[in-house]
Parts: sequence; C-alpha cells; structure tokens
Amino acid sequence: MRNVILVTGGAGFIGSNFILQQMQGGDDSNLIINLDKLTYAGNLQNLASIATNRRYEFVHGDIGDRDLVRPLLEKHKPRAIVHFAAESHVDRSIRGPEDFIRTNVDGTFALLEETRAYWNALPEGERTKFRLLHVSTDEVFGSLGPGDSQFSETTPYAPNSPYAASKAASDHLVRAYHHTYGLPTLTTNCSNNYGRFQFPEKLIPLTILNARDGKPLPLYGDGKNVRDWLYVEDHCEAIATVLRDGRPGETYNIGGWNEKPNIEIVETICDLVDEMAPRVGGRRRALITFVKDRPGHDRRYAMDARKIERELGWKPKATFESGIRKTVRWYLENDEWVRNVTSGSYRQWVATHYSS
Ligand code: NAD
Ligand code: DAU
Repeated sequence: MRNVILVTGGAGFIGSNFILQQMQGGDDSNLIINLDKLTYAGNLQNLASIATNRRYEFVHGDIGDRDLVRPLLEKHKPRAIVHFAAESHVDRSIRGPEDFIRTNVDGTFALLEETRAYWNALPEGERTKFRLLHVSTDEVFGSLGPGDSQFSETTPYAPNSPYAASKAASDHLVRAYHHTYGLPTLTTNCSNNYGRFQFPEKLIPLTILNARDGKPLPLYGDGKNVRDWLYVEDHCEAIATVLRDGRPGETYNIGGWNEKPNIEIVETICDLVDEMAPRVGGRRRALITFVKDRPGHDRRYAMDARKIERELGWKPKATFESGIRKTVRWYLENDEWVRNVTSGSYRQWVATHYSS
C-alpha cells in the first residue's frame, strides 16, 4: 500500500519548498499529489526537478471544486492532507477581499467536507492514522505592542486584515471539524517566512529585486513594524514534524525567535546586494523610500514557539544571517525564474499598488 500525501497549493512558495524537501527522503512507497489551481502565485517551474518523478503527481484544480476533490481522494486514498492552498498576500486582500473568502474560507470548507466524507468511509485502522494538517498564520492573533508577550496557542484570535480574517475563519472551521466530527486535524500557525520561490510582491523578494535593479525600496509608514522571520526550510521541517508526531485537535505555533523591524530587514538586504552585486551608482540604502502605510497595518507579530519545541522537539536551525544570505544569493542567481514571474500581471500589480 502506498503512503500517499495530498498537498494543496504545492506550487506556491512554501508548498513547493515542502514538496521538494519531502521528495529528498522516503522511497517508492511514497507518493505526493499536488493539487494546485495555479493562480498568479503558483509556479510549476519551482517543481521542474521532480516533474517526471514517479513519486510525484500534479493535479491542476481548485480546492473548492468538490467534484474534482472527491474522486481524487477516492482514487489515491491519501493517509494525510497538507493544506497550504490560499490567497496569501495582505495588500491584495485589502484591494480585493473576494478571492480570499472564496479560497481561504469556502475552499477550505469544501475540502473539509470532502475530507470528512472520505475519512468516514475509511476502514477503522486507516481512520485512526489519517491526518489533515492545516497551514495557518500568526496574523490571526492580531497586533502586539512593543512590550506585549508573544502570541501563544491560547492567545485569542483578533484578525485585522481581510486575509487574516479569512485565515482565522478557516482555522475555526478546522477546529470545529475536529471537535464536532472527530476529524483528526492539526493546525500550525507560523510567522513570516522567507527563502527561494517567494513571489516578489512580499517584502523580502521585492526588496532584493528592486535593490538589484536600482529601483526605490518602498517601506510602509515609519518602517518600524516588526515581524518574526523564519527560513522557509525550517517551516517545512516543522510541518513534517507536526504531521508525524502532532496530537490531533492541537494547534502549534511556529516561529523563528527572530523579531526584526522592517527597516532593519531592508538595510540588511541592501548591504548584501551591495556586497554580491556592487553598484556604480552608490549604496543601495539610498534607495529606501517611505511610502503611505498599509491600512490597518499590524504593528508587531511575535511567536512563542515553545510548545512545538517542548512537545515535538522542533526548533529553527537557520540563523537569520545564514538564511537571508542564501535567499539574496538565490534571487540574484535565478534570473530566469525572476523574469518568468515578473512579467505581465506582476508589472500591473506593482504599477497599481505603488503608483501613489
Ligand atoms: P503562495 O501565495 O505563495 O502560494 C499559494 C498557492 O496556493 C499557489 O500555488 C496557488 O496557485 C495555490 N492556490 C490558491 N488558490 C487555490 C485554490 N483555490 N485551489 C488550489 N490551489 C490554490 O502562499 P505561501 O506563502 O506559500 O503560503 C502557503 C500557506 O502558508 C498559506 O495558507 C498561507 O496562509 C500560509 N502561511 C504563509 C506564510 C508566509 O510567510 N508566506 C506564513 C505563515 C503561513
Ligand atoms: O506573518 C505571516 C504572514 O506573513 C503570512 O500569513 C502571509 O501570507 C505573508 O504574506 C506575510 O504577511 P506580511 O503582510 O507580514 O508580509 P509582507 O511581505 O507583505 O510584509 C512584511 C512587512 O513589510 C509588513 O510589515 C509590511 C511591510 N512592507 C511590505 C511590502 C510589500 C513594506 O514596508 N513595503 C512593501 O512594499
């Protein structure tokens, strides 16, 4: 019997890193099915190295399409689902929340319904072993002040953006499916990720590419909002750990123990790009431009990730210094990937979003 994992949203930033990491281990009894709609954020180029591997299969489709998901579950009989698929960009959720409700809320609901039906029909032994792992975010907890304690698993939800609200809604649905129907769910809430394959609408890749090209580096507000940055490979290892050893019905916070104000992130990137791709026109820090703040911009996120360390033995391996250096180098060395994702609709997004 094959050990099948259904990954949703596996062509995105974190999902593709997760699949590649999973494909490094295991044997022929393992199969990963990647169900992805290929929105602007999904990119099969990330997975080109495994595209023809017999242990991997891509399915193009929407998690909200129940007539697609039902036969997919029946055919492949996964022993786990790792649910990454989502609209993920806060600024886009502010400009147009509808897609966020459709995928993050309705799509997760549809996936839960089909999973419940599939799981109910499994033989007893397989029902016990089955897991649905829902990948969520620290943004559901709202915003911290400078002296506040970090978010823990028991911090009340207080989402502030349409994106955060849609993820909070999906977390609640997952919780309810465990509590009401007994579905063996796991939820992870993670802080800001960075690393290869992140779409350059997000702060770190946007800054690297603009710095490379000598373009303005937009910082919202006073640039002092704080995020807790985690290298994506550490997040993927945490997800694999929770999937293997997590207790059904539990939630686990994942973070980098690495709080930094945005201005410090941008200055660090400027210095690294200066070092790796020296510029005749002077230091990149001069390109930093303060722009109008994001509406409802959360001031600070910080994760208390002691539970996952205490109970499951996971903690981040990468330091910020090593992770950000690898990330800057990757973007500078992968021009073809960059050119492919920064064509057409990306240029339109940048022009609209940063025009004022
Ligand atoms: P991403 O935007 O890079 O990728 C999302 C993927 O989901 C894309 O491949 C897209 O095509 C796919 N997708 C979107 N709608 C779909 C649908 N209806 N059906 C099937 N596929 C669909 O996102 P990411 O940054 O990789 O985030 C992945 C998950 O992790 C999300 O659930 C996000 O909320 C969560 N998360 C992200 C971060 C972060 O820092 N990026 C941190 C914590 C949690
Ligand atoms: O905290 C986890 C979340 O991290 C994930 O759930 C989201 O999917 C992911 O997109 C990310 O959300 P953020 O809003 O924190 O990430 P973003 O890269 O968009 O912004 C990081 C910080 O940088 C934030 O304070 C806003 C600021 N920023 C962002 C952009 C794009 C700027 O100052 N200028 C910019 O141009």
